[in-house]
Amino acid sequence: MRILEQRFVQNFVKMADDGFQQGWHERNGGNLSYRLTRHQVEAVSDRLLDHAEWHDIGAAVPDLAGEFFLVTGTGKYFRNIIVDPEACIALIEIDDKGEKYRIRWGLADGGLPTSELPTHLLNHEVKKRVSGGKHRVIYHAHCTNVIALTYVMPLTDLVFTRELWEMATECPVVFPEGVGVVPWMVPGGREIGVATSKLMEEYNAVIWAHHGMFCSGEDFDSTFGLMHTIEKSAEILVKVKSMGGEKMQTIGTDDLRALAKGFNITLPEKFLYEK
Ligand code: 13P
Ligand code: ZN
Repeated sequence: MRILEQRFVQNFVKMADDGFQQGWHERNGGNLSYRLTRHQVEAVSDRLLDHAEWHDIGAAVPDLAGEFFLVTGTGKYFRNIIVDPEACIALIEIDDKGEKYRIRWGLADGGLPTSELPTHLLNHEVKKRVSGGKHRVIYHAHCTNVIALTYVMPLTDLVFTRELWEMATECPVVFPEGVGVVPWMVPGGREIGVATSKLMEEYNAVIWAHHGMFCSGEDFDSTFGLMHTIEKSAEILVKVKSMGGEKMQTIGTDDLRALAKGFNITLPEKFLYEK
């Protein structure tokens, strides 16, 4: 079977297009990566290039040695992925030390994986460990309302989590662990990747101030759904703030405790402060 006919490739392409349709991927904004299962690697092994050169990852990810990832290419536009996936995405292999990668398929007109590869792989390494191997998707989007909020709210996990939870009853159920916030940093390198992956030990979503958000999940649906839910919550908060900002009523601390009980979820005590 051709690589483009593989179900996981088709789901990757669909998710990228879903993100584009939401307006989160202007120009080449955003990137997506997926860690293949052993079975998926075997299914495509006879279609892979063998002589590609090794490149430095720019970060060490020893726990990902020998893994394969489907990733978007740097400078590639999400709006083009569905039109010509083979030109926009790549299948890469990590070396046996977790320090280098090589392109085994894709980027047919040339190019390299996303400039955020260090952050993607550092996040994958953390998530593979803390989820017992279940998490496979890392997604970065330039979601408008989340970015807007990073100009007008304190850049803390406590404030962002609590405000976003309050904006829709489903929010604490969808992201009970909360959201992390990284202050403004230069993107595209190891430093911001380390800061993000530290927060990924605890959260499945990390906001980059004045830039966007990273989400992690087990599959394409749940990872996209997490980005979508948080961005929608941020949109409601932007609307509330734009209507004068004063809430006449809200989901309060006791309501959050009742919700946790009703849905059998644990909300970390640090977010249940009285306002
Ligand atoms: P890439 O085109 O290198 O993926 O960069 C886009 C981006 O969103 C950087 O943060
Ligand atoms: Zn970005």
